[in-house]
Amino acid sequence: MEHASHYQAIVLREYPTHSIDQQTFETRQFEAQPLGAGEFRVKVTHLSLDPAMRGWVSPDPNSYIPPVAIGEVMRSLGVGEIIESQHSEFPVGARVAGMTGWTEQLISNGTGLSLLPAGVTPELALSALGMPGQTAIIGYKDVLEAEAGKTIVVTGAAGAVGSVVVQMAVADGLNVIALAGSDEKCQWLQQLGAQGVINYKSDDIATKLDQFAPNGIDYMFENTGGETQHHVIERINPHGRVAVCGLIADYHSAQPALAPSWINLIKRRARVEGFTITDHFQRAPELIQGLLVYLQQGKLQHKVHVLEGLESAKLGVNMLFDGSNDGKLLVAI
Ligand SMILES: NC(=O)c1ccc[n+]([C@@H]2O[C@H](COP(=O)([O-])OP(=O)(O)OC[C@H]3O[C@@H](n4cnc5c(N)ncnc54)[C@H](OP(=O)(O)O)[C@@H]3O)[C@@H](O)[C@H]2O)c1
Repeated sequence: MEHASHYQAIVLREYPTHSIDQQTFETRQFEAQPLGAGEFRVKVTHLSLDPAMRGWVSPDPNSYIPPVAIGEVMRSLGVGEIIESQHSEFPVGARVAGMTGWTEQLISNGTGLSLLPAGVTPELALSALGMPGQTAIIGYKDVLEAEAGKTIVVTGAAGAVGSVVVQMAVADGLNVIALAGSDEKCQWLQQLGAQGVINYKSDDIATKLDQFAPNGIDYMFENTGGETQHHVIERINPHGRVAVCGLIADYHSAQPALAPSWINLIKRRARVEGFTITDHFQRAPELIQGLLVYLQQGKLQHKVHVLEGLESAKLGVNMLFDGSNDGKLLVAI
């Protein structure tokens, strides 16, 4: 495939003070450079939009990853096709996944990119088998050490990470209580096998938790923050565990919400633990194997919400914060 002499990419123009807006990013044209020895050119076909992006465009030097610099191409996971190559392990026509950035094309020597196995679509590589699925399995297996017969509460349950946790827990025989922000999302969670579903926007969360978890709660996979945390910690069983994966309700807040009192952590000898996928990138092959066990048994579905065109990435991220994404949010270029 011929490569264009110029390509477009989206760079960070300014750090937003609240939501990402029209001023946050700008599109720039770049001249395509010739390949050096051991390099290949990727035409990007799919980009991943993730809640973490809001943090990456905050000038906080003390987070788990440095902020994107002003003028830098926006950091992003993505998938693309190799269109020119001087690298024997990355031939023309192969698909790669990894850190592409918001760009139509890039030159790589392979660092941070991996070949997509046959049969793995870009949508699957960026959702259930990709970063969201790998995050889900770390939190579920390593942090919660979840066991059959126990009760788990999953917030953000209809999302990219949450829906994988729900399905693993259903498959493993746990009592699964799943929270989401619309009746349509709750219906999907019921179809996936969650025993209890709660629309956190319209249901009384405490009443529903009492109904679905009469014997208390053993695990919480926390994706959102908000009042559910308080109700769960009030009902946590002895030696219960909370995996803190995300607090999307707080990503725009200058003053994050107050967490529950620690008193029940003492009384119930419970554990609350945060984690990030970035600490585990090198474990990708093992984590994917763990997810494939569920996938190959037909127990792991994925849903994607695809926006069209590079430009749609700029404000598309906001959909993650009002819940208008229905599945893993992607951009097809
Ligand atoms: N620790 C890690 O390494 C890691 C890695 C990946 C993701 N995460 C975190 O995991 C969480 C889920 O990420 P994802 O990629 O799977 O996104 P997602 O769940 O596919 O999309 C975000 C969802 O969050 C919900 N939401 C937005 N604002 C909310 C609020 N104020 N209260 C409750 N729910 C709200 C919305 O669903 P509703 O319609 O249900 O409200 C929205 O669809 C995020 O917090 C993300 O930062 C962490």
